[in-house]
Amino acid sequence: MTTYQCIVLAARPQGVVASENFRLETRPVPAIKEGEVLVRNHYLSLDPYMRMRMEDLKSYAAPQALDEVMIGGTVGVVVESNNPKFSVGDNVVGMLGWSEMGVSDGMLLKKVDTTHIPMSAYLGAVGMPGMTAWYGLNKIIQPKPGQTIAVSAASGAVGSVVGQLAKLQGCRVIGIAGGKQKCDFVVDELGFDACIDYKGGNLYKDVKAAAPDGIDGLFENVGGVVMDSVLARMNPYGRIALCGLISGYDGQPMPIHNLRVVLSMRLMMQGFIVSEHMELWPQGLGEIGGLVASGKLKFRETVSQGMASAPEAFMGLLRGKNFGKQLVKLI
Ligand SMILES: NC(=O)c1ccc[n+]([C@@H]2O[C@H](COP(=O)([O-])OP(=O)(O)OC[C@H]3O[C@@H](n4cnc5c(N)ncnc54)[C@H](OP(=O)(O)O)[C@@H]3O)[C@@H](O)[C@H]2O)c1
Repeated sequence: MTTYQCIVLAARPQGVVASENFRLETRPVPAIKEGEVLVRNHYLSLDPYMRMRMEDLKSYAAPQALDEVMIGGTVGVVVESNNPKFSVGDNVVGMLGWSEMGVSDGMLLKKVDTTHIPMSAYLGAVGMPGMTAWYGLNKIIQPKPGQTIAVSAASGAVGSVVGQLAKLQGCRVIGIAGGKQKCDFVVDELGFDACIDYKGGNLYKDVKAAAPDGIDGLFENVGGVVMDSVLARMNPYGRIALCGLISGYDGQPMPIHNLRVVLSMRLMMQGFIVSEHMELWPQGLGEIGGLVASGKLKFRETVSQGMASAPEAFMGLLRGKNFGKQLVKLI
């Protein structure tokens, strides 16, 4: 290979992301310097946070720079190494962006074992999304056996892990997802106790029916009316892990009418960013990796093919077209 493809941010979105916001480029494969490794990426992870980085807003991280390769998690194989810690053939997870190849100084590169866990899972259940689930559930919600836990975007990369971990801890788990197919999967395959289709037209009634004794913990991925419907059913001293607000990432309004429940039910709500808790990743991913390897924790993926498919797949992720972790297969 003498050239490779990558995708850069061509323009910041005005409202809903469009294909014009991205540009596919072909670049020569670079020569690596002392201490560097060259990686051939096999999978690119597409994640909702990328939408926020595309805007020049005050946030927890700097915005994605224009005309530079889009930020993104990757998993691939070392094809050249001038770094003693990495050898050709090592499977590595890193942050090499929307790109078929990437150069790393090794700092953010981690070797992964694909004997019992497929390579792609290191971008999903056994990667950042899984760790997000582990952190928000265990460190913020801190569930107790017998409690009722609700999670939105329940069939997705984060939500699917949240619910399965909560079930393993003896909780009653209610998912919220878009459409019958996703809800059936969440209950039949992942083992949640119930799943509500928020597109079904009876959201508030359905949440009430699924949680007759109220809700003790909410893992919120969506915001807006989905969050509002669960807030209305929260029990006293309930705990909310505010993980994501995807229903508003493309600039849509996210009305919350039931904020008074935070007061009347004395709720605790904590936002968090998983990358701020790196010291816990080995513990969290060790636990999840063990569960995945032994078949006790399941996950699902939606895989688009080839670098050029990434923008369309990303736009689909923001509209719920993905079913499970959204990946791009590059090789
Ligand atoms: N705080 C952190 O550190 C952190 C880290 C990772 C992820 N997150 C957040 O976690 C959430 C889930 O991320 P993920 O990677 O697991 O994504 P995902 O759930 O695999 O995919 C996104 C899902 O969001 C749902 N969605 C999209 N637009 C929606 C809308 N308008 N209303 C309701 N649901 C909508 C869709 O599912 P349906 O078809 O079911 O609607 C879609 O499949 C996101 O909000 C993300 O920003 C936060």
